[in-house]
Amino acid sequence: MSEIRHFLEFKDLNREEFEYLFERTRWIKDRYKNYKQYWPLADRTLVMIFEKQSTRTRLSFEAGMQQLGGFAIYLNTRDSQLGRGEPVEDAAQVISRMCDIVMIRTFKQEILERFAANSRVPVINGLTNEYHPCQILADVFTWIERCGPVQGKTVAWIGDSNNVCSTWLQAAELLDFKVNVSTPPGYEVTAQECGIAGTHFEQFADPMEAARGADLISTDVWTSMGFEAENEARKRAFCDWQVDADMMRVAAPDALFLHCLPAHRGEEVTAEVIDGPQSAVWDEAENRMHTQKALLEYLLLGRVEAPQ
Ligand code: CP
Ligand code: NVA
Repeated sequence: MSEIRHFLEFKDLNREEFEYLFERTRWIKDRYKNYKQYWPLADRTLVMIFEKQSTRTRLSFEAGMQQLGGFAIYLNTRDSQLGRGEPVEDAAQVISRMCDIVMIRTFKQEILERFAANSRVPVINGLTNEYHPCQILADVFTWIERCGPVQGKTVAWIGDSNNVCSTWLQAAELLDFKVNVSTPPGYEVTAQECGIAGTHFEQFADPMEAARGADLISTDVWTSMGFEAENEARKRAFCDWQVDADMMRVAAPDALFLHCLPAHRGEEVTAEVIDGPQSAVWDEAENRMHTQKALLEYLLLGRVEAPQ
């Protein structure tokens, strides 16, 4: 591909591209499960920059890149000059001359955008305060894998209007499903902050009403990384926004439960739900790796025909 493509927000790719990525993920996952080597990214290097902690994102990108025949290098703020105030523009110029693709987990979306504007290679958002597009790529893939096409269906988002919530809202507009959002007062979502038109979501004061009849229920921690100072206030504000068995009962029969993880049992979700039969959180976590392998391949090589 001549033009550099980045994945900074979910809506950086269009619906046809997501359909391609989901199909490609199925093929890549199947091959991996059957121990068939597939090395389209031999000699390619991914640099991963982390300004916040991670288990899944680091592991899924690093393992995924290796499985595609490439290499992954881990940088964090503590051990690199990024933590000593080197301008992000300078870091982008240098880092992007020594690798083929970059993944960044940072605070403000603006930092990621400034890096991408100065990068010679594709940049992937590995989580910012505003968005978590790789998570929703895996979540939607998992939903389709378990339940079939998502068009016209309904997600209930219970809890914080955070990076994962705003990315669900972008996905809903692109892939034509609906999101019922229920947050405590003062934590409501705005279409503008989520970068959406606002055509595919509805807000509910009562979390049980948001969940009623939903095909999928999802939630996340009450306090995201970077907001720890608000922890005590959030614990008080969010105590009624918990996904429990009663909530699963008002959702559609066999509604799926997803959580990006890490989870706090007894806070945003009960153990009964997250460890119960409707939960797909382990598939969801594993699918981070398979979907991101398809994404890495697409951003570096464009559409490829599956070799036989
Ligand atoms: N869901 C997710 O991004 O997990 P990590 O913070 O462990 O990467
Ligand atoms: N909303 C959470 C997601 C962690 C994967 C956070 O930003 O901390």
